[in-house]
Amino acid sequence: MCGGEKLNIEVVHRAHKHFFVAHESDFISYVQNQIYEMIGVRPSNQKLLAPHKARSLVEAIRTGVADTTRLKDVGAFDHMRLTLIGAPDHEVEEVQMEEARWDRSLKPSRSLHPSMLKVTRPHRSAIMATDPVFNQCAVHPSTPKTHPFYTKALEYLERLASDPAILHICHARGLKIGKLTELLPHENPELLGLNVNKGESILLRIRTDAADGMRDYKTTRRVLIHELCHNEVCTLFSNHVEISDHSPEFKILNSQLNREVDEFERKRVEGTHYLSTATVYEPVQPVDVDVNEEREERRLLILHATEKRLAEMDQELESQCGGTKRDG
Ligand code: NI
Repeated sequence: MCGGEKLNIEVVHRAHKHFFVAHESDFISYVQNQIYEMIGVRPSNQKLLAPHKARSLVEAIRTGVADTTRLKDVGAFDHMRLTLIGAPDHEVEEVQMEEARWDRSLKPSRSLHPSMLKVTRPHRSAIMATDPVFNQCAVHPSTPKTHPFYTKALEYLERLASDPAILHICHARGLKIGKLTELLPHENPELLGLNVNKGESILLRIRTDAADGMRDYKTTRRVLIHELCHNEVCTLFSNHVEISDHSPEFKILNSQLNREVDEFERKRVEGTHYLSTATVYEPVQPVDVDVNEEREERRLLILHATEKRLAEMDQELESQCGGTKRDG
């Protein structure tokens, strides 16, 4: 990052807002790289729409001089809003794999002599989607395998580590966690979650305070999302200034990840989780509101109440999270 006036930049992608800070002497490619890091859309797949005042930014990208043109030379300004169209890498990969599956299923099958298969190896891209996000799930070491809670706790941790919505947000950002394990209620009564060494391990309180059962799954998953943010905010800003835990950037990312999880699940339920690499126009505001207005209003009321409750929960969580602790 270079010097000059600070520019707060907002990027809108699929109705989600993303924020980052650049400086007027940064090259345009800095913006492209920030977008790649935050949203996963690589520069070659980014189609950016800029405000009229900064329209030459788009022109500079189009003519291939983003690496040598500074933001101040294309009229970039503080609180500038860019609209991004383009598919993130993980979606492109999924589409490519889906296409490959189709190709294979459409090809006439032919049997090969075993000797011809000897030197074949599985294709690398097939490994990527199944790459584990969590390397290991471990019950608290004080609980022996024979303890009635052992299997319950392990299954609970494994459910979190294989939760499709969690895997979705982790794959989108290339997040890797070493060990997912637990914090016992009596150990650190003030903590619900802890991220050690940027994801080397994440510890979650999964047993109830009385240790007679398991905590509500969705609440714990929200704590996990919070802890995952500690990885991501560190990654995002590692080249920049030190950012304290639970900074505004952290809060924005945390609500964004929670929204992505909700959206992922909603689409799964609706069965419309389609993927597309095509650049399509996506209106920021839904325009189709003339039907079921009353139902929509009621839905919004419930949604606002839920959002308020969740915001309060996140606020509470911040005081019950150990942040990113560094070991040794
Ligand atoms: Ni925290």
